[in-house]
Amino acid sequence: MRTDESVFRLDGRIAAVTGAGSGIGRAVAQTLAGVGASVVVADIDVDRGAETVAAITDAGGQAIFQRTDVSRRPDLDALVTAAVDRYGGLDIHCNIAGVPSLVRDLTEVTGADLDAEFAISVKGVLYGCQAAAEVMARRGAGAIVNISSTAADLPAAGYGLYHLGKLAVVGMTRTLALELGPKGIRVNAIAPGATLTNFSARNFTNPDGSVDEERKRQWLAGMAARSPMNVVGDPQDQALLVLYLVSDAARFVTGQLIRANGGWSMG
Ligand SMILES: NC(=O)c1ccc[n+]([C@@H]2O[C@H](COP(=O)([O-])OP(=O)(O)OC[C@H]3O[C@@H](n4cnc5c(N)ncnc54)[C@H](O)[C@@H]3O)[C@@H](O)[C@H]2O)c1
Repeated sequence: MRTDESVFRLDGRIAAVTGAGSGIGRAVAQTLAGVGASVVVADIDVDRGAETVAAITDAGGQAIFQRTDVSRRPDLDALVTAAVDRYGGLDIHCNIAGVPSLVRDLTEVTGADLDAEFAISVKGVLYGCQAAAEVMARRGAGAIVNISSTAADLPAAGYGLYHLGKLAVVGMTRTLALELGPKGIRVNAIAPGATLTNFSARNFTNPDGSVDEERKRQWLAGMAARSPMNVVGDPQDQALLVLYLVSDAARFVTGQLIRANGGWSMG
């Protein structure tokens, strides 16, 4: 029985993280690297991805960047290949990339709206799982974490596209856990609550890119009020949950949606 912190170490493990140029994905990449993993930082934004790599290597960790558009299956294949070519395999894959959804009543959404939403929130996650599973299955081991949201629990008028995408992630996580469990691969999802990132900053950012401090204060107060603890999360709250899920500490955990959301929803 391991009773010390070594159960959370990832020395010698190889991880790929999408959306690692910002917010939750960046925190995940830095956190996994901080406990010994070699990380392939994947993002559509080259500059931000490079910043994450620099932050990791400056801190003494191992990381490379692979430009990846998660809506393109070939990009996910190339990401996994980069992990294999540079570090020799893939033990951990985190599908974190995402963009804010179009706000529109479901009665009004078009086929093009659905295609645009699902290209990233659904296909982007599934393609990542497919590409990673192929390599992990050869070794008979692996851990995948997918990004859902509190929005999967709590539908809201106007936010149906986001709700549907994040619900689909829950469904694919459960199905893949069943399909990949016999191959030694665990698949889980996280459902963050309100977390301060570039994604949430759109709620209080002016068209010229400056922050409206009053709107920010109101947004933070409104989001905190949804938690019985009156807190808003930061990316590290999600990253530490991901660390648990990909570590040996979670060897008995698969097919789960786990919520770090300050108690906003309880499933
Ligand atoms: N921030 C929150 O409050 C919150 C809450 C629940 C769920 N989430 C989810 O967390 C995920 C990450 O959000 P965040 O808050 O860290 O946002 P963020 O904007 O800080 O980071 C998202 C990253 O994804 C990248 N990205 C966007 N499209 C991409 C694509 N096609 N291919 C590759 N990379 C792409 C962006 O360049 C960016 O670096 C999203 O899926 C979001 O839905 C966020």
